[in-house]
Amino acid sequence: MLNPIKLEKKHFLSSLDTSFDEFLHILEIAKNFKNKDLNFKLQDKVLGLIFDKSSTRTRVSFHVAMSRLGGTTVDLNPTTSQIGRGEPIKDTARVLSRYCDVLAIRTFKQTDIEEYSKWSSKPVINALTDLEHPCQALADFMTIKEEFSDYKKVVLTFIGDGNNVANSLILYGALLGVEVRIACPKGYEPNDLVINRAKNIYKNKNLLKITHDPISAVQGANVLYTDVWSSMGEENQKENKDKNFLGFTIDPNLVRNADKNAIILHCLPAYRTKEITDEVIESKNSRIFEQAENRMHVQQALLACLLS
Ligand code: CP
Repeated sequence: MLNPIKLEKKHFLSSLDTSFDEFLHILEIAKNFKNKDLNFKLQDKVLGLIFDKSSTRTRVSFHVAMSRLGGTTVDLNPTTSQIGRGEPIKDTARVLSRYCDVLAIRTFKQTDIEEYSKWSSKPVINALTDLEHPCQALADFMTIKEEFSDYKKVVLTFIGDGNNVANSLILYGALLGVEVRIACPKGYEPNDLVINRAKNIYKNKNLLKITHDPISAVQGANVLYTDVWSSMGEENQKENKDKNFLGFTIDPNLVRNADKNAIILHCLPAYRTKEITDEVIESKNSRIFEQAENRMHVQQALLACLLS
């Protein structure tokens, strides 16, 4: 029987914190959990959750994943704990990691989650920062694998803001050899360091393309993906971004330019009519709710591997 294998790195802060083989292993474990073929338990283990930003899917999927593993969760609300008062991360991390066996943290700066990991004696999981959303990307590539067996034959087009979701897709895309195209307005490209890291992994294969033309970016694509144009913390940019992103909506016209069997992904929550239309979300090619479900399976697998 397949059993979770401990990951080489203690923490999961970035898509690149797993090797290629570890990534495939996490997805295999997730598939086994999903199919109810694996009865692995983390009895009495405690997951601490810190969310400095709102969350529905990540919060609930971590709670349920831990519950299915036989463990429990503590959900720390920064406004009702001392975190919101500004207690230093190095103090919070040292204390919480004496109570909990693993921490999942959603915060703003990547350097803050790195600070947590530096001081925590237990594994720290990135539940979203401004730079990356690696748990989301695990679920995204699980959903893609359910449709297309060979990653190397997949063209993934992300239309919209070069944000944390795009960054994590780019990094896993490079690790897996997926052709990744990002179509964004000028000035909204993904993080330069992320692009350079991905290009180093791809070596001289020209499989990462950044363009400002959504129509050319979706030609022959197998996966069309988008996210909100204004991420959490960017509320004051919303009006401006809504104008700058005109023409970057995934609508039936754009979908017609992709491969006829292309699947549609969105990490949710969505603004229907902005980055994607209602019709596309509800279309037969949409896998958006399978993708959301897979959050729970990959996180259950990730917890199992980190705590094995
Ligand atoms: N996709 C995602 O992370 O959703 P939540 O913000 O609801 O957790």
